[in-house]
Amino acid sequence: MTDKPTLTTTAGAPIGDNQNSLSAGPRGPLLMQDYQLIEKLAHQNRERIPERVVHAKGWGAFGTLKITGDISKYTKAKVLQPGTETDLLLRFSTVAGELGAADAERDVRGFALKFYTTEGNWDLVGNNTPVFFLRDPYKFPDFIRTQKRHPQTNLRSPKAMWDYWSLSPESLHQVTILMSDRGCPVAPMFMNGYGSHTFSLINGAGERFWVKFHFKTEQGHKFYTNAESAEVIGKTRESYQEALFGGIAKGEFPRWSMKVQIMTEAQAETTWYNPFDLTKVWPHAEFPLIDVGTIELNRNADNYFAEIEQAAFSPSNIVPGIGFSPDKVLQARIFAYADAHRYRIGTHYEHLPVNAAKCPVNHYHKDGSMRFFRNDTGNADAYYEPNSMGGPAENPAFREPALPLSGDADRYNHRDGNDDYRQPGDLFRMFDEAQRERLFSNIAGAMQGVPEEIIRRQLVHFYRADPAYGEGVARHVGVSLPQLDAAAE
Ligand code: HEM
Repeated sequence: MTDKPTLTTTAGAPIGDNQNSLSAGPRGPLLMQDYQLIEKLAHQNRERIPERVVHAKGWGAFGTLKITGDISKYTKAKVLQPGTETDLLLRFSTVAGELGAADAERDVRGFALKFYTTEGNWDLVGNNTPVFFLRDPYKFPDFIRTQKRHPQTNLRSPKAMWDYWSLSPESLHQVTILMSDRGCPVAPMFMNGYGSHTFSLINGAGERFWVKFHFKTEQGHKFYTNAESAEVIGKTRESYQEALFGGIAKGEFPRWSMKVQIMTEAQAETTWYNPFDLTKVWPHAEFPLIDVGTIELNRNADNYFAEIEQAAFSPSNIVPGIGFSPDKVLQARIFAYADAHRYRIGTHYEHLPVNAAKCPVNHYHKDGSMRFFRNDTGNADAYYEPNSMGGPAENPAFREPALPLSGDADRYNHRDGNDDYRQPGDLFRMFDEAQRERLFSNIAGAMQGVPEEIIRRQLVHFYRADPAYGEGVARHVGVSLPQLDAAAE
């Protein structure tokens, strides 16, 4: 006898032998009635779900948001009221690499937050950068294709990357950040997070404000040079998981201070840039950071697959007092994520414990695979809406104020009248000499093997942001800058 619990089949029947399969004689073939062997092999065949189409490699942990500031005049969201504490999940990721990619590769990092609020889950699915490569979601699948493997060689293609970027000047701001020191943080604790898009806040009086969310690392910024990251990857592919999981296991709880920038609806009419353009930042001098609170990560997942791999974040998850904006990329993301989750995880993914809201959930979506939960009100007759059986019904108190819109439906050229150079140039001018040199050499390294014609087209963009930027890259990459008249084309 043993005091260990008895191993069972998935149906709960005790297993007498988990070492030897059932065979016809000691050297004979196996018997089909060995359903325990069949169950074991069949389950193994189903252990993987599709990896995320982007942001496949990730690291995550649970923690808490504490609100220490007071932005109640801008929002009625309960999660943002002074003194409130809310459980959260934060998953970091790289964008382009697959599930087994090395952690310390140069890439944008995802910074996806799920706040389990008393009014439903609020997901802020941002990056470690305040801007993005594009401003029209129509371009997203094309852009991602250039970051993934070439269909014939199955290799990453610097030619495709720079071809796309050089033909898409709106990418320059994000490319500059990616190739700077911020493009390869030492570990997730040493980088900022951003909601990136413009969202809205709505207060108790029904007034709307535009908002940007920021999460400033309290650990300070630390980065790897390309040479350092190559050395790290040579030793371990899992440096982020080791640092984050290991740190939290030792009681080292990383923190970020949460801040917002606020813009009124009237101010949004006056800025030289479109405040809903994801390739632009709002200058801090005009829209100062306002303290909101702190997030801390203090608990590792018990099971990586169940709680991090199956975590499903979606920009469509908002709560009363927090809303969307006309940002076109945000609008597309409101659709894309839940659609991806239904495919990647399954119809009822939101009922898995890591995704489940920690407040009452009342809806009329019922059947489908994995309908393992009870979501009715205990009133069997209230299975449609409206009903006179006391089933859940809408509450007009949660209606958002109307948003005035104007204009003809059309396909507007998103590159018309947009200054793609001023903000990347401003960023470049903030770098000191050493930072500039690293930027130039990171770009030159990333351009290896790229045809000269593409390099020259990209040099024009760098030059337009700042002549010293164009000249510096040209020097490092060993390609002469096109004539200035070419630059003015
Ligand atoms: C993941 C689509 C732009 C941040 C994903 C996933 C899809 C997707 C389908 C995988 C979701 C899953 O399987 O769970 C898109 C589309 C975009 C877009 C269509 C633009 C049109 C952005 C932008 C950001 C961003 C602008 C940041 C500002 C993320 C992050 C994840 C992700 C952080 C990983 C979430 C996690 O940790 O599970 N995206 N994306 N994406 N995306 Fe996007």
